[in-house]
Amino acid sequence: TILILDFGSQYSHLITRRVREAGVYCELLPCTQKIDDLHFKPTGVILSGSPYSVYDKDAPRVDPKVFELGVPVLGICYGLQEIAWNHGGRVDPHDKREYGHAIVQIDRHESHPTANLLFEGIGAETKVWMSHGDQLSVMPEGFRVIGHTATAPYAAIAHEEKLMFGIQFHPEVTHSEQGVKILSNFVLGVCKCRSNWSMDSFVEKEIERIRAIVGTDAEVVGAVSGGVDSTVAAKIMHSAIGDRFHAILVDNGVMRLNECETVKEQLSNKLGINLKVVDASEEFLGRLKGVTDPERKRKIIGNTFIEVFEREAAALDKENEAKGRGKIEYLLQGTLYPDVIESISFKGPSATIKTHHNVGGLLEDMRLKLIEPLRELFKDEVRALGKVLDIDEELVWRHPFPGPGLAIRVLGEVTKAQVDICRQADHIYLSEIRAAGLYRKISQAYAALLPIRSVGVMGDQRTYEQVIALRAVETTDFMTADWFPMPVEVLKRMSQRIINEVRGVNRVVYDVSSKPPSTIEWE
Ligand code: XMP
Repeated sequence: TILILDFGSQYSHLITRRVREAGVYCELLPCTQKIDDLHFKPTGVILSGSPYSVYDKDAPRVDPKVFELGVPVLGICYGLQEIAWNHGGRVDPHDKREYGHAIVQIDRHESHPTANLLFEGIGAETKVWMSHGDQLSVMPEGFRVIGHTATAPYAAIAHEEKLMFGIQFHPEVTHSEQGVKILSNFVLGVCKCRSNWSMDSFVEKEIERIRAIVGTDAEVVGAVSGGVDSTVAAKIMHSAIGDRFHAILVDNGVMRLNECETVKEQLSNKLGINLKVVDASEEFLGRLKGVTDPERKRKIIGNTFIEVFEREAAALDKENEAKGRGKIEYLLQGTLYPDVIESISFKGPSATIKTHHNVGGLLEDMRLKLIEPLRELFKDEVRALGKVLDIDEELVWRHPFPGPGLAIRVLGEVTKAQVDICRQADHIYLSEIRAAGLYRKISQAYAALLPIRSVGVMGDQRTYEQVIALRAVETTDFMTADWFPMPVEVLKRMSQRIINEVRGVNRVVYDVSSKPPSTIEWE
């Protein structure tokens, strides 16, 4: 395992990704991690960049024991300065902040072959991405230069005997052309890790870990939605403890067409998971009556969800007791790595985990302990895992769907009649996207029902009916998004079908707004 210590750089999670792409398992921990408290022995350490300067009063400091571990260390940007600082070097604020592309000239040393390992297989120079204010002005003891740029004489350094490297640039971002090669040189060539991190080994390890935590008696409960995260998490849990895991699907009345049946088919019939489907649609819709404010809708759905879930879990517990089975002690949650990283802070004593708004309250009320099998994975890794676990392609590639469901896509008041209109239009829209082979090109697509009426004509009759807005976006992180250029022919078919087949709609519009300033959802 490679240990990555995070000093708060926005790129830290990318280092993790690249190392995993090289087939090497790694863990990202806050830079305040005490080496004596580590739960594993690292085969190498990477120190990340940071928004701080090593001279800031409250600058984060690494446990100096990292340098006594006897394993290779690579410092990136701030990490380089941290190495220098700990070995008698000097870092000075540079008069020019360097930000952007730079060319590193590589300095090779025949007398010191280990110093060349980091840039093995890379030519005389390489294009890199720089982003820093400070830079090394006096070399630390025992180090030599292995790379320089026009403005940074010490852009890359290596220790003469120990396997210790520092680079001023960011190999983890794609702008650094040979960045992946440099990082894999470090983990494979310098640290001598084997390239064997794969989804299969992950599943095996995770199943063992879950069994060790849960033991032979306790039972586990978890909510499923039909999305890839909760399905993959449920499948792993089921593989670990079989029928002692109970999945609960709450039908909140604002799910998409046939969604409950599809989830049932996948989880219960295909994957063999113990699934309880609870139809609470009337309860949800009852509470949404008369509510038009989007944030109130969200709150009502979140709170009702917690209530229903708790009630069902308590009922399961009772049934278990009657059958002489163990108590429900754990809650399964499909938290992903980006959520965990977001909440890793080197200022706090330990990492806190952001809990999903839907289930956050459950932990306190029910005294359940949390299990998060996916907490080390990125979304694309979860998808790869889904494939290994034999989960249907369609589910594996499903677009994200918000917890409040169609309630925030039926603008204004949410009634069963309105939800039905939105649901049918959405179904036609998504079917046509699939038929046109565009589903995977689009990151998220949905139909929204606008509660305004416009005039139309049908046969000899004047109509006065509602509007469907079609939305499709392309994005990688959902923080920014571009509207998707839907082919005109496809739009034509969608609009025709929706107006002909969905009663109550006489107009369809396509949303051509990007985020920002618009958001992906209309509410
Ligand atoms: P916005 O509309 O903020 O959406 O651009 C960004 C992403 O977040 C999803 N979203 C939600 N997901 N509960 C959720 O679970 C919510 O209340 C919620 N609101 C927005 C949205 O679908 C998009 O993927």
